[in-house]
Parts: sequence; C-alpha cells; structure tokens
Amino acid sequence: MPAIFETAPAKTILVGEHAVVYGQPAIAIPVHDLRVKVVMQALPIAQRGTVLIKAPDIALQAYVDQLPEEHPIAFAIAQVLAHFKLEKSPACQMSITSPIPIGTGLGSSAAVSVAILKAYASFLGQALPREVISAMAYEVEKITHGTPSGIDNSVIAYEAPVYFVRGQAVELLQAGERFEFLIANTGIAHKTSEAVAMVREKREANPGLYDPILQQIGELANEARSAILKGDAMALGRLMNANQTLLGGLGLSTPELAVLIQAGMRAGALGAKLTGAGMGGNVLVLVEAETRGLVEEALRKAGATAVYHTQVGKA
Ligand code: PMV
Repeated sequence: MPAIFETAPAKTILVGEHAVVYGQPAIAIPVHDLRVKVVMQALPIAQRGTVLIKAPDIALQAYVDQLPEEHPIAFAIAQVLAHFKLEKSPACQMSITSPIPIGTGLGSSAAVSVAILKAYASFLGQALPREVISAMAYEVEKITHGTPSGIDNSVIAYEAPVYFVRGQAVELLQAGERFEFLIANTGIAHKTSEAVAMVREKREANPGLYDPILQQIGELANEARSAILKGDAMALGRLMNANQTLLGGLGLSTPELAVLIQAGMRAGALGAKLTGAGMGGNVLVLVEAETRGLVEEALRKAGATAVYHTQVGKA
C-alpha cells in the first residue's frame, strides 16, 4: 500500500479571543500556507496493533502503546479506532511534521490533532465528516489546554473563516471580497492557559470593569462578521484596531506586540492586533494587495522573527 498523507492548516483569531471563553462570539480564519502534514504507511511485517509514531519536531519516536493513554497523539488515534469500532490498529507508521510555531496562537496543537484524525481515518479506508473531526480534536484540545473554547478545532477542521459562539454550531463565513493578512511573530512564546487564567482572575476580582470589555469585544466580533460578509476591508481594519485597544485593556498586549502593530500600521496596514492568547505570540495585520510588500518589510525591520500570509475570500 503506498503512503498516504493528509494536512491541516494553522489558524489565527481575527477578533474575539478571550471574550469567546465567556460566551461572546469570535471569528477565526485558517492560515492555508502553514500546514501540519501526517504521512501514514502500512508496516506489512509488523504485528497488528503496532503504531509507530515519528514526530521529529518534538523529538518523539515511540510506539503508541508506549505513550500514556491521555497523550494527545495516542488519544486522537484511540478516538478514531473507537469511532470505527476497531479493537486493534492495522500495523502502521505515522509521521507528523509541522512548520507551525508552538505557543504563538496559531493553533499548532489543534492542527496536529486534525491532521492525525484525517490521515489515520484515511489509512483505515474511511473518511470522517468535518464536524466529527472538530469534535474529536476538541476532546484532544481539552487534554492540552484545559478548557478551550473550541474555536481552534472548528476553524482548522472546516478550513474556512468561522463565526464561533461557544456551545453553538459554527457559522462558516463567505467573505464578500478578498481580504489579505500578514501574521508576524514576536518570537516570544506564550502559554494560553496562563493568559486565560490571568483574564479570569482579573474578571473575578473586578467584574464591573472587565465584563463590559468582554462584551464590547463580542460586539466587535458581530460587526466584523458583517464587514467580512460585505467585503468591507476598511471597516474590518478599524474593528481590529478597536479589538486591540480592548485586549490591551485586559492586559494582554506587550511592548513587542505593540512595536509590530505600530510598524504595520505606519507602513499602511488597514488594521492590526495581537492574535490568540496574547502576552507574546503573533500579531495579525490586515493589508491591501498594494501595500502587502511594504508592510511585510516594515514588520521584519521591526523585529518580526517570521511573517506569514493568509487570505480569505475570492482568489
Ligand atoms: O491558543 P491561542 O493563543 O490561539 O489562544 C486561544 C484563544 C483564547 O480565546 C485566548 C482561548 C480559547 O480557548 O479560545
């Protein structure tokens, strides 16, 4: 049997991070150019049940039964086996490679889970519907992140812009125009769980101050949804800037993030904000086709350790 492979994209949150944890809407988009790849090969002479995992990016090489049951990779595989009512896996090797930087808000863990679920199901000669992949990836995300909102697994499983409210069916957004984005890395990794805990503590200590901020972020997400559907890039840029101000109010911005945001805006971007948990990680910058090159150069000059591109809407 020839090797087969599947991939899954990174993601970036366009508006609504953190507030989404408290039931507000948020919008996330896939980063198509940055993809996890999972290659499956049969191991014809190995015993049934043998699954050899190779993940060089995290220096992991192990048989799945050597991993703890709640290891994200083992758990993803176990869910697929259970779904198809298989007791033992056909002998195989699973090779996982990811160019997505870890801990920078680009959804590396959810992308790895989605790529594994798709590739392993394909290897079994099966296909899983996107909603099942998303639900299974969410279960894996809970191991990695505690109480994630579910936005990462949704946008990555559907590979489309999603309007997301916790506990509700996702809405896939059809952009009215093409929107171009740059994503620039501060080079500083963050821990999502720490950022989420910090916001929780602040909110519990002073709900009168923080609840209105979270609610205003939710309102921005609703306005951003309309701007995307209409294809209004100017409006979307303004909403991203307003979101950044509110995220700053939650204490999630840092000088490094601010430097990149300012550099992008000075070079002609329409909007810029931190994306994901904040306190490091990446900024998301809305550009126009004509200014993309200038903005990218400015971001690199301002210290971005990497700049990625993504777009939504018409090609
Ligand atoms: O993993 P990150 O950095 O994209 O952050 C996740 C976004 C949060 O809203 C902060 C948390 C969540 O679970 O949605």
